[in-house]
Amino acid sequence: MTRSSRTISRRSFVRSAVAIGGASALSACLDRESGDADAPPRGVDAGGLEELPERQHAWTAAQRTDEHGNPLVPEHHVTLHFSYIGGSPTDEERTQVETAFETLERAYARSNEGLLFTVGYGPTYFDRFDESLPEHVDLPEPTALAPIETPEFDSYDAMFHLASDRGSVVLSAEEALTGELESINGVDVEATLEGVLEAEERRTGFTGAGLPAENQDGVRGIPNSEPVSEDAPMFMGFKSGFKKNQASEDRVTIQEGPFAEGTTTHLSRIRLSLDQWYEQDSRTIRERKMFCPAHAEEGKIEGAGDNLGDSSQLGDCPAHTLEDAREYGTVGHSQKSARARENDEPIILRRDFNSTDDDEAGLHFLSHQRRIEDFVKTREAMNGTDVAEQSAIGARTNNGILQYMTVRRRANYLVPPRRHRSLPTPRPK
Ligand code: HEM
Repeated sequence: MTRSSRTISRRSFVRSAVAIGGASALSACLDRESGDADAPPRGVDAGGLEELPERQHAWTAAQRTDEHGNPLVPEHHVTLHFSYIGGSPTDEERTQVETAFETLERAYARSNEGLLFTVGYGPTYFDRFDESLPEHVDLPEPTALAPIETPEFDSYDAMFHLASDRGSVVLSAEEALTGELESINGVDVEATLEGVLEAEERRTGFTGAGLPAENQDGVRGIPNSEPVSEDAPMFMGFKSGFKKNQASEDRVTIQEGPFAEGTTTHLSRIRLSLDQWYEQDSRTIRERKMFCPAHAEEGKIEGAGDNLGDSSQLGDCPAHTLEDAREYGTVGHSQKSARARENDEPIILRRDFNSTDDDEAGLHFLSHQRRIEDFVKTREAMNGTDVAEQSAIGARTNNGILQYMTVRRRANYLVPPRRHRSLPTPRPK
């Protein structure tokens, strides 16, 4: 066995363990990962907790980067969805939950090699209080956001997003929070969520060059020919999340009031159907539909698109959206979505990841934005309804990548600053 095939099978094994979850998956994962590397980096000592950033979503400075300086989201992800057990949170419960989070921060460094996590609360959580959220905090109930979609809506009280390059770290964090571990990376688990928050659902996923190719076998929505290439970080075959095609963390941060330094999360669960994408659409058509017709005509993209550097090089593509619809009968996903920019900067920060939950190809689309309305605006630009009305492209066909995806669930969360991350009231002091 060559070194690279050994590495590949380890990553794939770890991915499956994360998807399965639980104590046996954790121990198998620890076994497999401990052979290859040192122990995960330890977090802060008790005195260092105060130095951690207020912004839970401040991941960029802690992340690995590629050769072009693009931040790399960690490889393994779990989202945990909770309901709050009691009627109204007490200070004692707040202390318990905060201690559980601090345990994770003492156990693991805040990095890809360690653990990155955010904690958010949904509209349902805040509904139990007499007072309402401050007016500038935009946290609506989720709604359908495209003319042709009928998603279901999550109504969980809280959602945690856990991410690490090590599957064992994500699984250990989950097990520690839910009371299944006494110590974690050498740190005693002083408190758990038990009796306060009850886990109702977990979703899992992965991102990074090679992982989609290794995990395409037998997955619904991907042709049997296993078409996803080794260099692709995503099932659709292209690189995503270039530095210059993301909102900055500043742009997505709430700026005033008790939740200043917080953000919001939109989370959708998307099913991918890639038979036509890989079996009928040519490479040229895929480039047009994902990026912009000009990218295909000028041969800008090699492989998954690493050669593009630190931006998807859209140039004046967004301004030509309607013209391209008329000339090529196709518009690009990036081209259309970029019409939502403000001051030439995107207004949402995407941290999405691939999934094979329920054995189907999917994407957990997770983005941060200052206000949920920034997501809605971006999604409207991506819908391209205006372009479809003024040209021969369909509402879904040849309209970027819409025909390959189905949004099955949507949810919105408020991600408070770290100081208020444990069971906040709508107007924390
Ligand atoms: C199957 C789902 C999706 C896939 C595979 C996908 C893939 C991509 C890729 C490859 C790019 C170009 C590279 C980059 O700029 O990072 C991109 C850009 C973008 N996508 Fe998506 N995307 C998906 C869904 C969505 C959704 C649901 C939204 C939300 C509205 C969205 C919003 C954006 C935005 C805002 C950009 C950057 C536009 C700009 O440069 O201003 N994408 N996407």
